[in-house]
Amino acid sequence: MSYFKDFLGADESLFRNEDALDLEWLPKVIPYREEQQQHIATCIKPLLAKRNGKNLFIYGDPGIGKTAATRSLLRDLEETTDEVEGVYINCWQKNTSYKVCVEICHLLGYKFTQNKNTEEIFAIIKNIVNKKAAVFVFDETDKIEDFDFLYSILNDIYRKTVIVITNYKEWLGSLEPRIRSRLMPDMLEFKKYSVNEIEGILKQRIDYAFVPGVWTGPLIRRIAEKTATVGDIRAGIYLLRQTGMLADNEGSKKITNEHVEATLAKLDEQGIQKPMDLDEESRNILTVIKELSPRKIGDLFSAYKEKGGGATYKTFQRKIAKLEKAKLISTNKIIGGKEGTTTVITYGRAKTLSDF
Ligand SMILES: Nc1ncnc2c1ncn2[C@@H]1O[C@H](COP(=O)(O)OP(=O)(O)O)[C@@H](O)[C@H]1O
Ligand SMILES: [Mg+2]
Repeated sequence: MSYFKDFLGADESLFRNEDALDLEWLPKVIPYREEQQQHIATCIKPLLAKRNGKNLFIYGDPGIGKTAATRSLLRDLEETTDEVEGVYINCWQKNTSYKVCVEICHLLGYKFTQNKNTEEIFAIIKNIVNKKAAVFVFDETDKIEDFDFLYSILNDIYRKTVIVITNYKEWLGSLEPRIRSRLMPDMLEFKKYSVNEIEGILKQRIDYAFVPGVWTGPLIRRIAEKTATVGDIRAGIYLLRQTGMLADNEGSKKITNEHVEATLAKLDEQGIQKPMDLDEESRNILTVIKELSPRKIGDLFSAYKEKGGGATYKTFQRKIAKLEKAKLISTNKIIGGKEGTTTVITYGRAKTLSDF
């Protein structure tokens, strides 16, 4: 007897590329944000002509393409020139000057940041970037705890564009005068999408993620309308995936009205805040971590496998990184222990080293 014999084989799934429903996944073009991307590009263009760039302050509600539009433009820049470095930092993960500077260094290809303090690390950044030019994007800047790095960049880097992104327009007013007077950014507001735009974006995702023809127009419209009430495209992408998984599990070859309604009902029940970012495998991993925390990553992987976990070690590591980003766990690198370098994972927020 098999528990699985009634299910479709993996090759018969409704999904053809489920990765396209990951929130970090970036489509080739970002529709409905051409005007905004044009504005960002205008700020960066002087750098290509060996002049100084313009700084930019991007704001608007969550889930309306601020990050996607900006990252997609950086990718374009990278493909166009080697003369301008593109540096993207999410300040939710890197929330101090030290962490930001270490990350910038790594992104610039310089890895030997151990045992160096913030100033020493910034000196390295300056040395690299002042030979050419750079675009610095600081996303979710309102999560930053200190602004020394920003002051240093504004003051000591010659040719740059600094882009800060936040959901809060007021944040700019809260900046110290010494930074604000140096930043003097252009302002760029991202406005909410209309239902039609949301529908267009979701259709684009469906084309990437699903086998052709499994979705019908009215069902996509239904999801778009629901997404519009939430306002965040993430909700729509989440709904597409959940509905697809439900239909897949039933071995259905099409998405039906019942599938969509069931997913929408579930969304209403559990809310759209936290859990929607976590796929099932990540939740399983989180359960194992909660049980054994704090524990070395290798041990956690073994325990996870013993419980029947299906992910490879690489995927496991990727999911761990996402859980950390969501601040559900914290990771701590132990360098040069008796088994060499390893990472210790702790459930919840960081604890002190003595806990290990
Ligand atoms: N115009 C668009 N085209 C394609 N995908 C989009 C678009 N706008 C948003 N998205 C997707 O919606 C999700 C949320 O967008 P994001 O850029 O992270 O929002 P924000 O940074 O404004 O909070 C991401 O997965 C992103 O790829
Ligand atoms: Mg964002």
